[in-house]
Amino acid sequence: MKSFVSAFVASVLVGVGVVNAASSNVIYPNNPLIWYHGRWDKGYGSWWAGTGFNLHVENLSSLSLQLGPNTTSPSLPIGVSVNYGAFATVDVKNGANVIPLSGNSTLTDSLRPSRPTSTVIRINVQGPGDNLYLQKIILNSGARLLPYTPSKLAFQFIGDSLSSGYLLPNQIDGAWPILTSDYFKAEPQTTVQPGACLTDRECWGNVHGISYQFFKLESTSYYYNANHNYTTDWDFRRDYPPTHIFFQAGTNDFSFQVTDADISARYDEFLTKLRRLYPRQPIFALGTWGWPNEDGTYGYFYEGVLENVVANKRTNGDTNVFFVNTRGWVAFDDVYDDKTHLNPQGSAKLAAHLEDYLKNWGLQPQKKWPTPIY
Ligand SMILES: *[C@@H]1O[C@H](CO)[C@@H](O)[C@H](O)[C@H]1NC(C)=O
Ligand SMILES: *[C@@H]1O[C@H](CO)[C@@H](O)[C@H](O)[C@H]1NC(C)=O
Ligand SMILES: *[C@@H]1O[C@H](CO)[C@@H](O)[C@H](O)[C@H]1NC(C)=O
Ligand SMILES: *[C@@H]1O[C@H](CO)[C@@H](O)[C@H](O)[C@H]1NC(C)=O
Repeated sequence: MKSFVSAFVASVLVGVGVVNAASSNVIYPNNPLIWYHGRWDKGYGSWWAGTGFNLHVENLSSLSLQLGPNTTSPSLPIGVSVNYGAFATVDVKNGANVIPLSGNSTLTDSLRPSRPTSTVIRINVQGPGDNLYLQKIILNSGARLLPYTPSKLAFQFIGDSLSSGYLLPNQIDGAWPILTSDYFKAEPQTTVQPGACLTDRECWGNVHGISYQFFKLESTSYYYNANHNYTTDWDFRRDYPPTHIFFQAGTNDFSFQVTDADISARYDEFLTKLRRLYPRQPIFALGTWGWPNEDGTYGYFYEGVLENVVANKRTNGDTNVFFVNTRGWVAFDDVYDDKTHLNPQGSAKLAAHLEDYLKNWGLQPQKKWPTPIY
């Protein structure tokens, strides 16, 4: 987000007067110590599930978010994680929102009252169609923003409802991409859209497919947003550069009768585009885990298609793209009644299998997060 932040510093400073963040407990969105991730528009509005920001704060005892009027109405759920603990769901809305910070002892270290403590707060938007417009972050007096040091690992996920945690109570924060990222102590970026086809066509209310929308700042929900009913190119230089790419899509294409030949061509084109964007990063293409039945069998579709596309890429010299065979990773008990979407147990299972896969592949979790918490 570096280029984004510096690009808007000048104009925002003119608007609000000179802000001395070091001595103030009001933090404005242009503050370079806010570590943004995901996709944000020029008005500091978030798009896509999982978009958010991390803060590293000394002497933090209270946190409140002032959100703008274009924030999803009447409210939206965000995930709040204190010191890399699990994400708790908090509903926020236009105006002032006190963010509960309970649940972590390092915040109220009564054994060491005279010593400043520092806390990492991670905040993200849980649902795919929601927008959070950040106006101010208000900290207790005496709190001070410190730099946040991101992990050396950064995972970029591209997918549909099977990656976005659709039907999970905490949506993206309960989904396997976030679970796997946390396990490896990696910074996640989740450009995932439930209902979207890979093919650029309308599917389940998504006016575009992933093969189009991934290259845009806005998610497909722009079309239903009267305040921002347009889509603009995403400047990939604004991303914290991902180290590993995960791709999962095609289930919705199957529902809309996209043929094997067509989806094969779409997979091939999309992987080619990803390779152009990410020349050195390993790309993991996840095959379908199918639709589990009660009798232990599975419904499969596009059998062998993605596998063949990946095999062709490898034959043609790109040996840094991998087909991940997820068959058998989850079963009937691991999905909701729709026999499709992973329940909390299924998400955890899928994450655990993927973690094993990645460790066998040669990736090890970071020993610790690089931002020191004291
Ligand atoms: C909020 O929406 C209005 C249109 O209704 C637009 O003019 C304005 O720029 C938006 N504000 C932000 C911060 O994006
Ligand atoms: C509190 O922070 C520690 C790391 O300092 C973390 O391991 C733990 O999960 C957190 N607890 C909660 C409830 O968030
Ligand atoms: C921490 O903040 C409190 C107010 O919440 C203040 O009284 C205290 O002096 C601060 N401590 C340090 C070390 O800045
Ligand atoms: C967005 O624009 C399209 C036309 O381009 C229109 O059909 C749609 O109703 C608009 N959505 C909203 C919420 O205004």
